[in-house]
This record gives sequence, C-alpha cells and structure tokens, in this order.
Amino acid sequence: MNGNKQAAGVYSVPKQWAERAFIDAQRYEAMYAASIANPEEFWGEHGKRIHWIKPYSTVKNTSFESGKVSIRWFEDGTTNVSYNCIDRHLTERGDKFAIISVGDDPKDDARITYRELYAHVMKWANVLRSQGIGKGDKVTVYLPMIPELTYAMLACTRIGAIHSTLSTNCPPKVLASCIADAASTVVVTADSGTRGGRKLELKVKLDAALDKLPEVVTSVIVVKHTGAPVSMLKGRDHYYDELAETVPDQCPPEEMKAEDPLFVLYTSGSTGKPKGVVHTTGGYLVYTAMTHQYVFDYRDGDIHWCTAEISWITGHSYTVYGPLANGATTLIFEGTPTYPSMSRYWDIIDKHKVSLFYTAPTAIRSLMGSGEDAVKSNSLASLRLLGSVGEPIDPKTWDWYHRVVGGGRCPIVDTWFQTETGGILMTPLPGATELKPGSVGTPFFGVRPELVDAAGNVLDGVANGNLVIADSWPGQMRTLYRDHERFEQEYFSIYPDKYFTGDGARRDAGGHYSITGRIDDVINVSGHRIGTAEVESALVAHASVSEAAVVGYPHEIKGQGIYAYVTLIDGEAASDELRKELVSWVRKEIGPIFTIDKVQFAQGLPKTTSGKIIRRILRKIAEDKCTEFGDTSTLSNPAVVDHLIDNRLNRK
Ligand code: PRX
Repeated sequence: MNGNKQAAGVYSVPKQWAERAFIDAQRYEAMYAASIANPEEFWGEHGKRIHWIKPYSTVKNTSFESGKVSIRWFEDGTTNVSYNCIDRHLTERGDKFAIISVGDDPKDDARITYRELYAHVMKWANVLRSQGIGKGDKVTVYLPMIPELTYAMLACTRIGAIHSTLSTNCPPKVLASCIADAASTVVVTADSGTRGGRKLELKVKLDAALDKLPEVVTSVIVVKHTGAPVSMLKGRDHYYDELAETVPDQCPPEEMKAEDPLFVLYTSGSTGKPKGVVHTTGGYLVYTAMTHQYVFDYRDGDIHWCTAEISWITGHSYTVYGPLANGATTLIFEGTPTYPSMSRYWDIIDKHKVSLFYTAPTAIRSLMGSGEDAVKSNSLASLRLLGSVGEPIDPKTWDWYHRVVGGGRCPIVDTWFQTETGGILMTPLPGATELKPGSVGTPFFGVRPELVDAAGNVLDGVANGNLVIADSWPGQMRTLYRDHERFEQEYFSIYPDKYFTGDGARRDAGGHYSITGRIDDVINVSGHRIGTAEVESALVAHASVSEAAVVGYPHEIKGQGIYAYVTLIDGEAASDELRKELVSWVRKEIGPIFTIDKVQFAQGLPKTTSGKIIRRILRKIAEDKCTEFGDTSTLSNPAVVDHLIDNRLNRK
C-alpha cells in the first residue's frame, strides 16, 4: 500500500489488490445490488458453496414483523457441518494442515492435518455418544485454546449435538448459570491450562460451579492437558483418554436440517444476565465461509490467525467454522500477546508464516505501549492482510497497526459484527474499498443497514443515527435460547420490523460507515450528541495514553458531563499537569464541545470475561453510586473496580 495514501488519511486500493482480489470495486457494486434486488436468487446460488446432503428448494423464509419474527434459510435442505469442515477436504487436502496449535510455552506447538482432524473428531463424537449425547442434546465446552476445543465442537456438529462454549475466564458463578440455562448434561473440560505463564484451574472452577448444580450434569469429560492432578468424582468424571479407548474409530456424520441449532453462545454483553444466542446449521455455515473467503481474500495456502478466544463469536466464525469450511489452515494460540515477551504475537507470525492476521484493537494498544522495537525484531514478511474487530479502532492505533505491523503494505479490514449477527456485516473489502481509519466500510452482500433517528425515521445520505438492519441474512441469530419473547423485544420492537443492533453509526458521502459506539454509550452534552468512542479515540491519540473509557454523568448545567477514565502507558506518571493537558488536547483534536469535565487516572478498566469494558460500572462510579452496579458476575477483574472507587472524582 506504499504510496497510496491520499488526503486526510484515506488509502486507495492498491493496483495489485484491485487486480488480484476476489472482489474489486465493480464486482462489489454488481454483487451487492444483485444480493439486495433478489436475495433468493443470490443466496440460492451462494448457498451451494457448502455440501448439502439433500439440496434445498426454498432459500429465504424470513419475517422481521414485530410479534411474528421468524428466520429460516435453506430450510428444506439437509447437511452436516463437520462433513463440510473436514470430510469433503480429505481427497484434495488430507495431508494439508487444518490446525496449527501454538502453546502458551513457546516450545510447544503442533500441526494437525485434515486427515488427523477427521480421526480425532470421529473419536470425540463417539466418546460424546458413549456419555448419552445425541441429536439435539446440549454439551458445554470449557477448554483452553487447544486443539481439543475444536475437536469437541466439531464432534458435536457431527452427531447433531448443540455446543455451548464458555470462556476459560468464566468464574464458577457464570459457568453454573450458563450450564443451567443450556441444561447441558455433559461438560467437557481440561485438568488445567496455562495462559501467560499462569495456571488456569479449569477443573477446580468447574467443580465449584457444579456444586451448585447437582442435578443437571451427568458426565464430565476431562482432557489431560497439563497433567496436573485433579479431583475426579466417581461415576461423573471421566478422563477423555480412558473413554476414547472404549469407543469405535468411525462415526458417520448425522444428517441435519438447515435450521437445526448448531450452537448456543452466551454473550456477556455489558448489561444484565448473560443471554444464549442461538445459531443454526446451514445459513451460518454458508455465511461464515463466504465472509471468510471474501473479507480476508482467503487463498489456498494462506495461514489464517484469528487471535480471538474460540469461545467468542469471532473465534467460532473465523477460527473454526469459516476457515475450516474453506479448507484453510487455522492457527490456535493458547497464550497471551505479552508472554513471555512483548514480541510473542510477532514471533508466532514469523515462525508459522501467518499471512492473514485478525485481532482486536485492545490487543494492539497493549502492544503499542511497549514501542516499535518489539515488533521490528521480526520480519513479518509473511503478512499480507490485517483485520480488526470488536470495538472501534482509533486512528492512532490503526496507523500503528498499518505502519509498524503491516509494514505499510497490508490492507486493514475493520470488520463490524456481533455475536447475534454470526458473521461480519460491514467491512472494507481489500480489493474494493479505500481504507480510512475508524471506518468499517460498506455492507457485505445481502446486508441492508439503515440509520434511523430516535423516532425510527430513516435518515438518508450523510447521517449519524442508530444502526438497524432492514432484512435478514443467512448468518443471523434465530432466537435467544428458550426466550423467543426477549429476542423479539430486545431486537425487533424498538424499531418495529427491523433488527436493532444497539450501535450508533455515521455514514459518509461515499456510503461508508463508522461505528460511533453503543447507543447506550452516547452522551448528550449541552444538547450535542457525543459518541463516547470519539472522545476515547482522541484521548488514545495522545502519546501518554494507553487506554481510555468515557461515560456521561449528571451535570447541573450541561445535562451530562464527560467523565474519562484513562490508563497511561508504561513509565508515564499521573499528574495534574497531564490531566489539564489531556483536556486541552481533546478540545484541540475534536472540538471544544468535547471538553472533558473529569479525568480519572486508572490502573485498569473493568472488563467482561470476553474483554469488553463494562461501562455500566464506570457510569455508576462516575455518578458516585458505587453500590448500584447490578449483576457483576461477568466482571473479570474486581480489584480494578476497587481502585477506581477509591479514587473516584465525583463525591457527594
Ligand atoms: O458495539 C459493536 C462492537 O462490538 C459489539 C458486538 O460485540 P460482541 O457481540 O461481543 O461481538 C464482538 C465480535 C464481533 C458491536 O455491537 N464492535 C464489534 N466490531 C466492531 C465494533 N465496534 C466498532 N468497530 C468494529 N469493527
């Protein structure tokens, strides 16, 4: 991308990408128009990219009508996900690596071919069957980022079981509530794991969770991963290895209907109780495979590394299902970006010749703080495309990612999606879209975004509003597990007959979108709508700042004031001078209406187990209502909150 920078930080599509990528600008326009004009025909054609046991004759049968929401794709077709992710690759790619597994310890790595994956998954499927699991049964998977996690998930899909994969960060209370909600009879775990040199006591935490649920779980399957001794409850707990010795090697794939549930994924969100997002078989696989190919311009031979935990939707869709459906080599990493050194990600990229690298801005920011040298000791020559996901990427971080990690030559696809959307809904396409830091580009095929005002009026042209999607796409969630009413209420009743994303967005003259933050994160200061993400981007652009979160708090004159929590980069000291400097810096960067009223220096920010900042807690601290946090079961770092409360700036 050298030499392609245009005015005001916009990068045009490099010639070689426009010529070589699957989708160039013209093709995007034509395919997008076709996907909107005739979704049945478009998806009828693209649905064929996966193998169907019985081909579908109907394509789209969906309604967003309030009170009658129903989403069905390819509904009379039958297929099997594990067959698509494994068996159909065996003739041509049996000896190709499906998985590169990188351990927490840099000495540990392993490569698993498609043929080996096939054998493992069939064994796993039979082990699950031996524990009474069949079609429609629920299995909770609570494993570290090791190959067995993918084996267990794919084994569920092979026999038609529904998996619910939980993060290793989940404390026992959350584990218990998710296992109970899913009514899983079998839980898969490991003795323990290691992450960033620290031990993950998985079996111990699971035991604590199960103590609260004596009736539900009849079998716990334990992978011997670290070999640490753990307590095993007779009759309930079994080592995987021992069960595997007793079951057959072969397991044919179960024929599944397109709309049979594939998995439940609990999204912690940042409010209230976790909710179980349900995705189904056919549409989800078509959508994740297609987005994986086009968004990342995936080619045979690419080594694809998505750093997200597999227990996150990003990991489900872009570590496991999308890449494996396309016959790719996908990398799984057990550790953290900073262990044993700040160059861990870059060492892995060089060692395994990663070509497509997909991570979250928060990870980039944590590495940016330690400077460029940690990156530059590696060549990173294998990289050809970078991706960003999960939160708005501020221009300073984008620029560092592009320049230092991507060597100025790799496009960055800033992909916007949600647990609920299954796959990427908005993104630049590397051969078609000019890149602008903070912009998530244009909608993917078949996606109809609209911006609406608070009353639901559709806004045209350049606009700033609430982001809704006007029609269904195949990867969309179908319901909330055992709570279709809440599904209708939360997503389809606020703006009747439209899917409400909960996000605010801006659209520019070229039809490119930027996500301005969750609607509930918008502050109204003296009548001005302020997306907290804009203030955060400006703060993070300051050389001393590592991370920032901004919330509103009641202000006598302005209605709401701006309260900023700021963590500083290593070696930078908090001071009143710096506080004043940050306030004037933000005013200068984005304008005087963005005058921050309070800057609190923080050791860290409260985050969910999936790494999201819990703004609800920050809002309450800013309001001096520190006893009203509500449900904090998803909070991963309680000590940080104590520190924030002790040092809060608004005291009555
Ligand atoms: O607010 C948006 C933000 O993350 C939310 C979805 O979170 P989750 O369900 O955990 O899924 C995360 C993985 C996709 C969205 O509503 N978000 C996600 N991607 C972006 C983003 N915000 C800005 N830019 C993005 N690229």
